[in-house]
Amino acid sequence: MAWIDIGEESDIPVGNMRYYSIQDIELDVYHLEDGWFATADLCTHEDCSLSEGDIEGNEIVCWCHGGAFDIRTGAATRMPCVRPVETFPVRVRDGRIEVDVD
Ligand code: FES
Repeated sequence: MAWIDIGEESDIPVGNMRYYSIQDIELDVYHLEDGWFATADLCTHEDCSLSEGDIEGNEIVCWCHGGAFDIRTGAATRMPCVRPVETFPVRVRDGRIEVDVD
C-alpha cells in the first residue's frame, strides 16, 4: 500500500466527486453518505469520462450512453455497461484525503 495525499476532506462535500490524475492514473474520488470511494475515470463501455457523469445514490451514471456503476464496488449496474470499473482504496486521516493507487 502506498497512500497518496490528494487534498483536504472539505474539498469534496458529501454527494460530490472530484477528478484526479495521480501517477498517470486518472480516477474520480467520491464522498458518499456511506463514506469515501474512488473509481477509475474511464467508463468501461466506450471510455467516456465518468467525472462528467452524475451521482445517483451510490451509482455513477455515465453521460455518454446512460450506463452506470456501483461506486462502492465498481460493479456495472446499468446497460450498456457490463464490465466493472476499477476501484481504489480511499481513507481520510486528520482531515486529509488519501488514495492508494498501487
Ligand atoms: S461510454 Fe459510458 S455508457 Fe457508454
